[in-house]
Amino acid sequence: MSNRWLHERKDEHYYNKAKEEGYRSRASYKLKQIQNKFGIFDEAEKVLDLGAAPGGWLQVASEYVDAYDGRVLGVDLRAIKPLYSENVATIVGDVRDLEVQEEILNAFEGKADVILSDMAPDVIGEWDVDQFRQIHLARIALRLCDKLLKNDGWFVVKIFQGGEHNKYIREVKDMFEFVKNFKPSASRKQSAERYIVAHKLRPDRKLPREYREKGFEEEEDEPIPGDQLFWDEKE
Ligand SMILES: C[S@@+](CC[C@H](N)C(=O)[O-])C[C@H]1O[C@@H](n2cnc3c(N)ncnc32)[C@H](O)[C@@H]1O
Repeated sequence: MSNRWLHERKDEHYYNKAKEEGYRSRASYKLKQIQNKFGIFDEAEKVLDLGAAPGGWLQVASEYVDAYDGRVLGVDLRAIKPLYSENVATIVGDVRDLEVQEEILNAFEGKADVILSDMAPDVIGEWDVDQFRQIHLARIALRLCDKLLKNDGWFVVKIFQGGEHNKYIREVKDMFEFVKNFKPSASRKQSAERYIVAHKLRPDRKLPREYREKGFEEEEDEPIPGDQLFWDEKE
């Protein structure tokens, strides 16, 4: 039996299971496996889900937070079909846009217990460019944590191994006390996809240096979309 055949069978297994159990994506099982391993939702009432379409992670998060008092906010470039759960709301927008970031911050009364990012850009097939765009989205998610996450909250973010990935992990470690690199078994074996699971914001945390410096020292440069919101913070 070839490895490839076994992997294809596993992918098919999660695809069929999602269909049978009414989940919108096989990705739901990745989040369930993250929950089983780390217990990210054990105390959660407010959850932000970045890159939420078609809604598989929203469904899972919605099961864990209180049906009426809990709040799960999903954001995506693409419209998300209504979930008809009292505790789920969605925003259609690009997280790189300032206005969308402000809408997210205003949508939460108080801070979030969990911030999730399964965001992935549409790939163009050029590894360097795709990797850069992916890490840029992951950095926006990390900086939203600085603004919006409770001190003892959880952060889960998808990244692809290679390129800037190690640098990004160091940036997450500068922000959080607990940081693990996790590959759920529902994630395709062949894929470079990994999830960083982080917990407990450091009181003396620092946003990634290159982003802090951009706003203050290179005024003549065009800002990277989505970065401005954070420039007046810290230092
Ligand atoms: C892998 S899918 C997410 C699947 C989702 N977790 C689920 O369980 O259904 C990645 C999503 O990231 C979204 N995305 C990519 N770039 C984005 C951006 N700049 N702003 C918001 N969403 C973005 C895509 O539209 C896509 O729906």
